[in-house]
Amino acid sequence: MYPILHEWGGFLIRWTHVVAAIAWIGASFYFMHLDASLRAIPAIPAGKGGEAWEVHGGGFYQVRKYLVAPDRMPEHLIWHKWQSYSTWLSGFFLLCWVYYGQADLYLIDPAVRVITPATGAFIGLGALALGWLIYDGLNRSALANRPLILASAVFATVVAFAYGFQQVFSGRAAMLHTGAVIATWMTGNVFFVIMPNQRKAIAELVAGRVPNPAWGKQAKNRSSHNNYLTLPVLFFMLSGHYPLAWSSSLSWMIVGLVVIAGGVVRHFFNVRNAGGGDRWWTWGVASACVAAAVAISVLTSPGVRERVGLAVEREATTASPTQTASVTPSKVALVDDTVMGVIGSRCSMCHAPEPLWPDLAAPPKGVLLDTPEHVARFASAIRTQAVLTHAMPPNNITDMQPEERQELARWLAAQ
Ligand code: HEC
Repeated sequence: MYPILHEWGGFLIRWTHVVAAIAWIGASFYFMHLDASLRAIPAIPAGKGGEAWEVHGGGFYQVRKYLVAPDRMPEHLIWHKWQSYSTWLSGFFLLCWVYYGQADLYLIDPAVRVITPATGAFIGLGALALGWLIYDGLNRSALANRPLILASAVFATVVAFAYGFQQVFSGRAAMLHTGAVIATWMTGNVFFVIMPNQRKAIAELVAGRVPNPAWGKQAKNRSSHNNYLTLPVLFFMLSGHYPLAWSSSLSWMIVGLVVIAGGVVRHFFNVRNAGGGDRWWTWGVASACVAAAVAISVLTSPGVRERVGLAVEREATTASPTQTASVTPSKVALVDDTVMGVIGSRCSMCHAPEPLWPDLAAPPKGVLLDTPEHVARFASAIRTQAVLTHAMPPNNITDMQPEERQELARWLAAQ
């Protein structure tokens, strides 16, 4: 029952998360574009907001922005906050569901560090809180008036977190957590800065006073940060499906390169939408960063190194996979010759450190099925992929027989 619940639960939460994120990011892109398109009109002089005309869905829109606020409170005011909150909440739930609920499978890589699932969750959640304190602190410091230095400090923080996560988590969890730290900044910006400032402005307005323009400026700054961080976050959130992005020992460098690439691409559109021309250099920088990221992944992944004819240094790992909480020696002992025979003939050609399957450069999704320890570790995923469903082998490409699936079912039932 548990694997079915986990599989369906994970899918449904992810569905919610992706839908919420589309709504949030769509709104973020829309408002950045709208802000950039505003033009001064007689009723709203330059510096006080502006107006934009848009055409969409069979009608024309006349949108005005008032900085800091209009003269009087409108009767009907729409807030944009739940897209952000629901994205974070569903993402947080998904993080717990996948990475802390199945820590042995996704979070803990004994070759990196042997930790208990509880320690892993504590580190992950603690990092989200710490990350916000650092980011918010930087923004409230004297650096706030020096955008370039602030951006560099925020960048260094991201890379430091990526590096730190790599010292404790699996490669996949490390990159995902880096994305989660940044995503927490983004929702934190909405929850702790943008919304409170808007509420303060409205309270002043209702009281018949003029709101402090600094509130609006601060909210706009944080909103711009969110915009620049969007593309890198999406990369980190999607990276789980692409092991080459995170299996490198230098994936913290890949994180840095992706932050630059995503940021400059947003810059291109922000400047262009504001009528500032086309900064084509941004595409050159973004391409160079992505090329460097690919090169790093190639030069540091054992499977890829072999394929392109480079020497492979074998890293001696002191930790044995049997040391994780759920992969006990007795569970490894259950992976007998029959089980290894089935896995060896139907799965290992792809799920090995250096896959024999010609189209694969690295073990898919980092799932290694080459030793009894690894097979024991991935037991529940094997149940989902090869017993409960016949998703693996893909299209039954290795001609797995029904009796062989029954062998696996027998082994899993004894777990
Ligand atoms: C032809 C190569 C190939 C063979 C053979 C193969 N796999 Fe896979 N496996 C893949 C690929 C590719 C993926 C990644 C699929 C994706 O990205 O959704 C994968 C993914 C997986 C995953 C991770 C799924 C997830 O979503 O986290 C598991 C577990 C798995 N395979 C188990 C097995 C088992 C068990 C066998 C043998 C019965 C097997 N595989 C045989 C190529 C293979």
